[in-house]
Amino acid sequence: MKKVRDLLNVKADVVHEITDDATVFLALEQLVDKNIGALVVRRNGEVAGLFSERDYARKVVLKGKSSRDTLVREIMNEHPITVCPEDTIEHCMGLMTDKLVRYLLVYEQGELKGILSIGDLVKHIIADQQHTIDHLQNYIQGN
Ligand SMILES: NC(=O)c1ccc[n+]([C@@H]2O[C@H](COP(=O)([O-])OP(=O)(O)OC[C@H]3O[C@@H](n4cnc5c(N)ncnc54)[C@H](O)[C@@H]3O)[C@@H](O)[C@H]2O)c1
Repeated sequence: MKKVRDLLNVKADVVHEITDDATVFLALEQLVDKNIGALVVRRNGEVAGLFSERDYARKVVLKGKSSRDTLVREIMNEHPITVCPEDTIEHCMGLMTDKLVRYLLVYEQGELKGILSIGDLVKHIIADQQHTIDHLQNYIQGN
């Protein structure tokens, strides 16, 4: 069973972040610039939460607020779900399904090591299934 560590090993090391006093507009510009859907939020250097497109849709657009007048800290998720490098991919899928989240923060010994998206997990599972199919086809064909 593959683990979180295996997925992080094939991803870029960088975690894209923003400070909690930035405007939502600036955060959205960062999302577009990096072509991602979430940013880790820091306050005084410490991780304070996670800002995602979902927060924007639900807590700015639908509330009739303006992204230029709203700060990231007002709408971020202050309790992102975390995993550790030794957790399995199955465990991560379970968490995302149970908690209805699309991102997990990876911590090791109290330090932020990375971020996993639902897309990362799905991509891995599809690749894993293809590997199994190829293996079975080879077996059936006697290769
Ligand atoms: N993740 C993939 O490898 C992948 C592959 C093919 C298609 N897609 C599609 O793209 C869409 C969204 O994908 P997603 O669920 O991966 O979300 P996403 O667009 O937010 O993430 C894209 C990639 O960026 C990474 N990422 C996201 N936020 C980050 C951050 N703050 N710092 C560093 N890395 C960050 C993710 O881990 C993922 O690898 C979906 O429609 C999905 O099907 C994703």
